[in-house]
Parts: sequence; C-alpha cells; structure tokens
Amino acid sequence: MPNSNQLVKPNQVSLAVSGRLTETAYILPDGLTIDQWLAAGETLAQMENGIQWWWGDWLVYGEGNYPEDYSQGLSETLGITQESVRRLKWIAKVFPPYRRRYGVSWAHYAEVAAKEFTNDEQDEMLEGAEETGESQDDTRTRAKRKRKEKRLADLPDPPEYVGEFELDSIQVSDIELLDLPRASVDMIFTDPPYHEEYIDLYGKLAELAAHVLKTGAYLMTYCGKMYLPTIINTIEANGLEYIWTDAVFQPFSKSRISKHNIFENWRPIVVFKKPGDSKVREWVQDVVRGTREKDFHDWQQDEDAPRQYIPAYTFEGGIVLDPFVGGGTTPYVCKELGRHFLAFDKDVEAVKMSIARLSGHK
Ligand SMILES: C[S@@+](CC[C@H](N)C(=O)[O-])C[C@H]1O[C@@H](n2cnc3c(N)ncnc32)[C@H](O)[C@@H]1O
Repeated sequence: MPNSNQLVKPNQVSLAVSGRLTETAYILPDGLTIDQWLAAGETLAQMENGIQWWWGDWLVYGEGNYPEDYSQGLSETLGITQESVRRLKWIAKVFPPYRRRYGVSWAHYAEVAAKEFTNDEQDEMLEGAEETGESQDDTRTRAKRKRKEKRLADLPDPPEYVGEFELDSIQVSDIELLDLPRASVDMIFTDPPYHEEYIDLYGKLAELAAHVLKTGAYLMTYCGKMYLPTIINTIEANGLEYIWTDAVFQPFSKSRISKHNIFENWRPIVVFKKPGDSKVREWVQDVVRGTREKDFHDWQQDEDAPRQYIPAYTFEGGIVLDPFVGGGTTPYVCKELGRHFLAFDKDVEAVKMSIARLSGHK
C-alpha cells in the first residue's frame, strides 16, 4: 500500500500555524503583520475542512498497520461514535488523498461517496460543485437525482393501461383515459398535485369517483390549502358528499408560504362519500402524525395516513384505487394491509418506481 505522502497531490500545501495551538487556545506570537495574521486565519479555515480527512487517513492507517488491535475500544478512547469511525474511514478510502480537491468540503464528498457512482461520476459532481460554489444541500439533491436516474435505467418498462387492468397492478395512464367498471371500488385514497394548474384534475378525480365508487364508499384525497374551497366545491358538484377534513401533522416540514408569512406544518386530506349507506368499520382520529418519506418520489407522502384510514373505510380484500400513485405509497400500504389495489400514474418513471417499491426495492 503506498503511504499517504505518495498519494498527496503535488499542489497541496502543508498546514502550519504561527504561534501555538493548545487544546483550548491559540496563542498568537507578538508582532504579527496583518498579512501573517490573515494567513493564520486561512490556515484555521483549512484546518476545519481538513479535520475529517485527517481522522479518516489516521483510521485507514491504523486498519492497514494494526488490523488485529486497531478497532478495539477505538470509539471509546477517542470519544467518537462507531458510526463516525465507520463513515470517516469509508470516505477516506473512497477518496484517497490524490482524489481530493480543496475547493469543496468533506461533507460534499460524503454526499457523492455512494457506491452506485463510478469514480468519474463522483469527480464530475465534485468538479461541478467546486466550479459553481454549490452548497452541500444542492450537491445532495444532485446526487440523489443522479442515483434515481441510475436506478430507473435498470428497471423494466412498466405496463401501460390500454383499457384493461388486473387487480393489484400499477399502470401508466392519464386519469382522463381511465375507463373502469361502474361501482367497482371500495375506496379511493389519492394525492393529486396541488398547484393551481392542476386544479382541473380534482374535477376529473370527482367524475371518476362518482362513477367507480360503490354506494356509500369513501374518497380521500390530499390537497393543498390554497384552493381548498374550490376543490371541495368541485368534488361536491360531481355528486359526492363532503364529510370532513383530516390533517396530517408534519412538524418536519420546511415549506413556507412567503406571500402570507406562513410556515406550513400540516396537510389536509379531504374526505367525501358517495351517497348511500356506508360500511365504516372503525373509529378514526382526524389527525395523523406524518413522517418524512421521499425515497421513491419527490412528492411522496408518508405511510401513516393510509395505514390509519384504509382499514377504517374498507374491509379486508376490498379494492382501493389510486389514480395518482406517485411513488406507490397507496399500493404499498394496501399490500401490507391485505387490500387489493388499482393504481395509475401518467408518469412512466413514477410507475417504474412504484412497481420496484412493491417488489421490495429500497
Ligand atoms: C403528489 S404525487 C403522488 C405522490 C404519492 N401520494 C406518493 O406518496 O408517492 C402526484 C402524482 O400525480 C401524477 N399525475 C399528474 N397529473 C396526472 C394525470 N393527469 N393523470 C395521472 N397522473 C397524474 C404525477 O405524475 C405524480 O406522480
């Protein structure tokens, strides 16, 4: 194994400080010029970026030289967690010194270290981050998008709805093209997009619901709050009875409505019913505490709400429809709960992801 000196890029400078650093103090020498004082500041900034690399290289050295003894009590001795030890070492190994550049932080490297990426892809993302001064969060988003593209490329093309469907299938289709049997569905649990340009979709959803729901069956749909009155009126105009508005509490949400200075921390699910006798099985609370889940779709909802409401409004073996399936949350929960599902989305990638999720992809 080459030693770290041999691997360091020739243009990397060694760090030295004027004065003395102790555990709790930096004792500067008298008489520094302003340039020397500024240079010392730069060195401190470089040290901040370097510390994780130093730990990582130190751990890799220990592992290489004392494989038997090195891990014993390491995290207790140093006061760093096992997880940090593992992570520091992992990043240092993925990016040996000759692959490191000064212009991006260690945290940027951590964002692109995933093993799905080739060295060239990692270098390209880091180069981009350095050139544009991209934040760590933006690098994370870019890496996530790229990972998703790679995952999608490996998945088979999903089935397209052309007038036929099977129970427990997810197919590509615009809601407008769905032609499902009348009074065949026990519940709709869904989540159309919320922006103004999508408001018409709630009309289409209502038409579909009025046609496919059995008598007394429920439609539950997430929606934004901005157009709530319009949405409720539109759905009622199609012959469904407005019942309630449930809330998914999202304390983790960072969403804000700048126009009205509002931090947004809950999401409505409006509940409607096709007129007639209902077969509601269980009492339910009208608030669910959500968890942030975005692994399969950027607009993915948590599993907690369907897990609470689907068993309340359907029997085992009942059929639940989701015409805007996104990342597949509704079918995923239906499968877990022993309900049949019919799911559609016009976006091919969303359907691919949903099918992969159902077959156990992480
Ligand atoms: C908010 S997302 C659903 C997220 C889903 N609840 C989840 O947990 O992953 C809305 C979905 O509606 C889909 N969509 C938008 N317009 C549509 C249309 N006209 N027909 C069918 N699907 C549509 C989008 O592609 C998107 O995947």
